[in-house]
Amino acid sequence: ASALQISRWEKKMKKNSQDVTRDVRVRSRAGFETERRGSHPYIDFRIFHSNSEIEVSVSARNVRRLLSFQRYLRSSRFFRGITVPNSSNILDDDYNGQAKCMLEKVGNWNFDIFLFDRLTNGNSLVSLTFHLFNLHGLIEHFQLDTMKLRRFLVMVQEDYHSQNPYHNAVHAADVTQAMHCYLKEPKLSKSLTPWDVLLSLIAAATHDLDHPGVNQPFLIKTNHYLATLYKNTSVLENHHWRSAVGLLRESGLFAHMSLENRQLMESQIGDLILATDISQQNEYLSMFRSHLDRGDLCLENANHRHFILQMALKCADICNPCRTWELSKQWSEKVTEEFFHQGDIEKKYHLGVSPLCDRQTETIANIQIGFMTYLVEPLFGEWARFSNTRLSQTMLGHLGLNKASWKGVQREQSGSGDDVDPAFEEMDSDILPQEPRLS
Ligand SMILES: *[C@@H]1O[C@H](CO)[C@@H](O)[C@H](O)[C@H]1NC(C)=O
Ligand SMILES: *[C@@H]1O[C@H](CO)[C@@H](O)[C@H](O)[C@H]1NC(C)=O
Ligand SMILES: [Zn+2]
Repeated sequence: ASALQISRWEKKMKKNSQDVTRDVRVRSRAGFETERRGSHPYIDFRIFHSNSEIEVSVSARNVRRLLSFQRYLRSSRFFRGITVPNSSNILDDDYNGQAKCMLEKVGNWNFDIFLFDRLTNGNSLVSLTFHLFNLHGLIEHFQLDTMKLRRFLVMVQEDYHSQNPYHNAVHAADVTQAMHCYLKEPKLSKSLTPWDVLLSLIAAATHDLDHPGVNQPFLIKTNHYLATLYKNTSVLENHHWRSAVGLLRESGLFAHMSLENRQLMESQIGDLILATDISQQNEYLSMFRSHLDRGDLCLENANHRHFILQMALKCADICNPCRTWELSKQWSEKVTEEFFHQGDIEKKYHLGVSPLCDRQTETIANIQIGFMTYLVEPLFGEWARFSNTRLSQTMLGHLGLNKASWKGVQREQSGSGDDVDPAFEEMDSDILPQEPRLS
């Protein structure tokens, strides 16, 4: 995998070298108050809901027009009470005192990110990631300017869409927290370099950047420009990555590093983010499985480490069912809300309802059971083989209990307990790239 992966990075860097400017227009230093970036997959659902005159026979072309609306809220978001912290001491009032307290247990699997987000007034991603940079000694090791770091993290947080029920900055913070838990696992912690940790945390924090709240099939069928730009392949993940690169460059956070290192960082972050494309899971999983079968993973080898970090980020991204029921249930409701919201739009504009998105035929329980059976259990089963620790056992324990709970709900609702959503069975077949993004 090693030499192959390197050459893949290089190819991708060449192929995509112009994509940052095609996807994300980097803002000039002075232009902070103007539109941050040129073009966004911003989808303002209020437009769909409130303008009844554009209803009825709206075709994909009209939806496309709506989708290409600039994110006009963007500039105003700076006035909506998200302040740019002016010193490294962000946590200094009462709520923030409690948030600070929570950060002492940031490595606990029971960490309640929803509570943390409330205590930080919606700044969970900035607070948590800054804290983790500090905790892992990255600020010192890479001689990072804390003002630039904070500004970078604020931009990252701002580029998530807070109106998405699921794919928002809280999900990013949750994935970053999970990633931190995995980085602490003995096998990883003893072999990871500061560079690995740095890339892992940045990739986790940015992995869904600027997510439009609809999935790839939706972007393809509405002829969204991102689908064209990325040729219908890992459309969202490519956009998250290029958005992250845009913000990295814009923040100047690593301006003091060599160009070579910065390029290596950009491409390796890309490899991590692209691994979160759920439609590619089978390929990653069979590679992981055969490494484990052969027992040939050698974490002194940088390429093997990066492969493991890809798997770790994949786990972090879909770890919701491995959390406690209280947390897990909230995530399930949020993701379903986002799916159904997409389905409502698809119905309204006669676009054909995507799998899992039809509120008339789907239930949270069905979706969750299918998700767990076909995606989460296989992934975490292999992860536990790789890292057979208390954390892995805890995660598998919650997974089993949560699945049983959803089966209970399902039985109550339908009288039969064994329905598995057929949409997930199709995940194994050739239509994979057309399947909805689940995480
Ligand atoms: C940061 O803001 C606080 C008020 O929130 C102010 O007291 C302090 O002087 C500011 N620090 C700097 C360096 O501007
Ligand atoms: C992407 O998918 C659409 C719809 O299926 C198709 O019309 C288009 O040709 C595809 N583009 C590429 C580059 O494959
Ligand atoms: Zn995600």
